[in-house]
Amino acid sequence: MLCNFIRLPVLAIATLFLSSSVKAGLSDCPKNLAFQLTNIFQFGDIKSPYGNCEADSDGSGYSSGIANFNTASGDTWDVIQAYHELTNVEDAFSKYDKVLAERAESGSGSVVGLENFCDVWTGLALDAKFISAQGTVYDSLYFTPSQNSADKLGLKHSVSQAVFYDTAVSRGAGSGKTSLGGIIKETSKKVTSDKTGDSESNLSINGYSIDEIEWLKLFLDVRAKYDTHGKANINSFKYIIENGKFDWVDTLDVLNNKGEVGDITCANSFNPLDINPNQN
Ligand SMILES: *[C@@H]1O[C@H](CO)[C@@H](O)[C@H](O)[C@H]1NC(C)=O
Repeated sequence: MLCNFIRLPVLAIATLFLSSSVKAGLSDCPKNLAFQLTNIFQFGDIKSPYGNCEADSDGSGYSSGIANFNTASGDTWDVIQAYHELTNVEDAFSKYDKVLAERAESGSGSVVGLENFCDVWTGLALDAKFISAQGTVYDSLYFTPSQNSADKLGLKHSVSQAVFYDTAVSRGAGSGKTSLGGIIKETSKKVTSDKTGDSESNLSINGYSIDEIEWLKLFLDVRAKYDTHGKANINSFKYIIENGKFDWVDTLDVLNNKGEVGDITCANSFNPLDINPNQN
C-alpha cells in the first residue's frame, strides 16, 4: 500500500520530545494542505489511515497507523505510551505494554503475546486521544525535524516547507546521503554563484545569494535521483511551482499520482493536530 514509504533505521531511534511543540515552519492551513498532499503520495488519499493495522511485510511485527509505525522498531510503543499519557488510566492497550516494550528493546518482529493487537488498534481509529497520540509521535519523527531544517536554511514559502516535510516522510529526516539532511547538503554544494528569481526570498548559501525557489528546484532535482519508487510527488511540487503557488491559502491545485490535476482545500481538515485530545 505504501509504495513510496521508505522506512530508514534512523527513524526508529529518533529521540522523542513528546511535550515540545514547534513554532517553526508550516502552520494551520498550509500545514493542513501539506499533510493532505503527502498523504496523496503515500496512501492515494488525503486522509491519514489512523485505523490501519496489518502484519508488516518486512517481518517487523505489526505495522499500523499514520506512519506505518511498527512493533519491532519501537515507534508503535512510542504511540502507545503517548496514548497512555492522554488516557491517564488503564486503557485497551495496557495489556500489551510489557510485550511492546520488550519488542521495542530487542527489535524483534515476533507477534507472540500481541494477540488481537490489530483489532484493538483499528477499534480506536476514531478515538480523539488515540488520533492525538499518533499525531504527536508522527510530528516528532517527521514534521518537527523537517520544519527545524527549513527554518535553519531560511525557507519562507509554504511550498518549500512542504517539500521538506514530504522529504522527511519519504526519505527520513536524518542526515544520511539520501535523507533530508543529505539532500540539503548535496543541493547547496551546487550553488556556486548568485542566482536571482521571483520568489522575493533569498537564501544565503556558501556566501552566495540564491532565490529560494531557484534553490528549491535544485533540491527537487537532487531528490529525484533517489526517488526510484516513483516521482509523483516531485512532479506535483514542480507543477505547484510552475503555477507560482509559493504561499498557500485555502485551495491548491495539485497533481494526483496519475499526474491528473485536482484541488485540495483547507476545509478538508485531516491534520491530526487539529484534534483536541480533551474533546472526547
Ligand atoms: C534578492 O537578491 C537580489 C539580488 O541580489 C536582490 O536584487 C533582491 O532585492 C533580493 N530580494 C530580497 C527580498 O531580499
